Amino acid sequence: MKLFDLRSDTITKPTQAMRKAMYEAEVGDDVYREDPTTNRLEQMGAELSGKERSLFVSSGSMGNLISLYINGGRSNEILAAANSHIIQHEIGSVAAIAGALPIGLEAPRGILNSSLLEGKVKQGAYDMATTTLVEVENTIGGFCYPLENLEEIKDFSDSHNLLVHMDGARIFNAQIATGISVKTYAKYADTLTFCLSKGLGAPVGSLLCGNKTFIDKALTIRKMLGGGIRQSGILAAAGIYALEHHVDRLQEDHAHAKAIAATLGKTGWAQVDLEGVQTNIIFFTVKGYTAKDIVKQLETIGILANNEGNLVRLVTNLDLNDEDTDSVCKLLSSFTPGKQS
Ligand SMILES: Cc1ncc(COP(=O)(O)O)c(C=O)c1O
Repeated sequence: MKLFDLRSDTITKPTQAMRKAMYEAEVGDDVYREDPTTNRLEQMGAELSGKERSLFVSSGSMGNLISLYINGGRSNEILAAANSHIIQHEIGSVAAIAGALPIGLEAPRGILNSSLLEGKVKQGAYDMATTTLVEVENTIGGFCYPLENLEEIKDFSDSHNLLVHMDGARIFNAQIATGISVKTYAKYADTLTFCLSKGLGAPVGSLLCGNKTFIDKALTIRKMLGGGIRQSGILAAAGIYALEHHVDRLQEDHAHAKAIAATLGKTGWAQVDLEGVQTNIIFFTVKGYTAKDIVKQLETIGILANNEGNLVRLVTNLDLNDEDTDSVCKLLSSFTPGKQS
């Protein structure tokens, strides 16, 4: 039985062309800042984000952690949506390593605004933590952050002496879906991470972007965390290839997600949030079943899904083509919950 892996867009394998670019990469010792391929990737990251510098880090989690370590900080608080990746999926590193207390704010789809932030900022009291930073995630659950919210959050932050970090793990999906450039999104954040290893299909790596002073500090913290990779050019080459060849094609992943969501919408058994499917992530529920039950049942018909709390999650990706998408839609159309277990 053919398996269609829709658990995440992180499951993709490097293409032959990407592997060739990795094989041929010119390298040096990046801890000495002598790796030409890594330097080139970091230059691309700075240009794409419109920030002074960018730094190649092993993962999105490491990029977020470094930013929260520097700009969040011990005995401080950071504000973020309760469903954000840094709160739900980074194993408490913001508290355990960065030393900051994350305050999770309940927000529809995880999209914050100034009235949600109002009253949450603590500053100037010796017996309380100090709020130093607001974290936003774009996309969040596949939903693109509205620009007006980002603008409002940045204005609020500037007027309350707070910095903004954007977890842009999938920001290129947002760029492709909305036509708003990464650079424009980045204007509303002091620091930004984006992942090369999600929809863009590289095997590893993220770029952390910010001004020169921030990136100088980030270099030290990356080393402290064990993230100094010596001949990192082999990995950076995959990132360069991904940025040069895999950005525009994200629209295919989005079209596949919309087709799958529309199919689910017609089944009668799935409650799918069609409006929320703006990029490559689909969430749905099935009455009478837990998300875990449905994930197990879908596996028996060849569809690998994931559950996020009580939601079933499907993520389209580089390894799923038009034909595969048709097959997934057919499998879902003929699926009846409960019959498989
Ligand atoms: C929104 C978001 N941020 C950050 C990360 C962390 O990325 P990594 O797995 O590279 O640590 C992920 C990973 O799935 C993510 O979805």
